[in-house]
Amino acid sequence: MIKNTYNWGIIGLGNIAHLFAQGLKHVPQARLCAVASRSMEKAKKFAMKYDVPHYYGSYEEILDNAELDIVYVATPHHLHHRVSLMCMQKHISVLCEKPVAMNRRQAEEMVKAAETYHVFFMEALWSRFLPHIRKVKDFVDNGTVSDIRLLEADFGFRAPFDPQKRIFNNQLGGGSLLDVGIYPVFLSYLLLGVPQKIEAEANIGKTNVDEICSMNMSYASGAMATLLSSITCKTKTQAMIYGSNARLEIESPWYAPSHLTLRKYEDNDDEEFRFNYDNIGNGYTFEIVEVMRSMERTQQQSSLWSWQDSLELMGILDKIREACGIHYDIK
Ligand SMILES: NC(=O)c1ccc[n+]([C@@H]2O[C@H](COP(=O)([O-])OP(=O)(O)OC[C@H]3O[C@@H](n4cnc5c(N)ncnc54)[C@H](OP(=O)(O)O)[C@@H]3O)[C@@H](O)[C@H]2O)c1
Repeated sequence: MIKNTYNWGIIGLGNIAHLFAQGLKHVPQARLCAVASRSMEKAKKFAMKYDVPHYYGSYEEILDNAELDIVYVATPHHLHHRVSLMCMQKHISVLCEKPVAMNRRQAEEMVKAAETYHVFFMEALWSRFLPHIRKVKDFVDNGTVSDIRLLEADFGFRAPFDPQKRIFNNQLGGGSLLDVGIYPVFLSYLLLGVPQKIEAEANIGKTNVDEICSMNMSYASGAMATLLSSITCKTKTQAMIYGSNARLEIESPWYAPSHLTLRKYEDNDDEEFRFNYDNIGNGYTFEIVEVMRSMERTQQQSSLWSWQDSLELMGILDKIREACGIHYDIK
């Protein structure tokens, strides 16, 4: 139960900022108080659409709004580190879009800032808070699916080719791995931890970003994970988790499926679990509630997706990049 009202700000008013603003509307204790864009006109238009009292034409000015409790950073990846630090240095808590940074070193600096300035800080890894992912994690933790041997997951979509926009733009942190590959990597990390060995291959396109990234992980337990991401092909976007007693199938698209199926190897009594998010808002509402619940308990981090989780995930992404030669021209 959340008692206090939290005043939210949003920095970077692109696609995801709109979905997030819609998600906020479904949480009665969340108030969208201020938004900031590089363009005053865009900020004003966004503010009118979502009934936001304060809007700014720069990312710096919003930080002087004394009403703000927390800012949602929704810029392209290359700015996550800089903008989050700006907020935390003003003692404003941060929910930062994924990937939390461009690399683990940056993510460590962000965690350090959260400690120094005593603010709440979380990576907006929305999938972690969705009911079906929580159910999958419970099944694995309570042994319904025991001793995972193999995990397969992919996330591929076909983005229109535009070298200026963030998906294909190296300087904005483009490419499939950091945009959508992060999700299969997240799932493997959530269920299997940090891999012992990582092999990866990437198809680097003409704008010097990975258009396809294929990853194979192996773990000390003997488990293996085979993962794939793409920005040039619409792949099945399914996840399969094979234990030694049962298999879990997360329907496509596995980041927001209508159902998941548990198939026990020894009997044919498959169980289906259905999910419907419409009654609570959109998928982003769950992470918003998690942030506010954590802040209400005066926690500086979420117990479901901690700072350590973000650091380890970033570390795995760094190793994948190293294995398949994904480089960014970002200072
Ligand atoms: N959780 C999810 O489901 C999900 C889904 C999509 C994206 N994301 C994450 O959210 C972040 C933003 O993605 P998006 O799809 O919303 O991107 P987008 O539509 O391109 O919007 C990004 C916004 O960042 C701002 N920006 C600042 N510097 C920029 C620059 N040099 N070039 C372009 N934009 C710049 C712009 O806002 P102003 O013009 O207002 O300053 C822009 O509208 C990414 O890190 C992505 O990984 C998460």
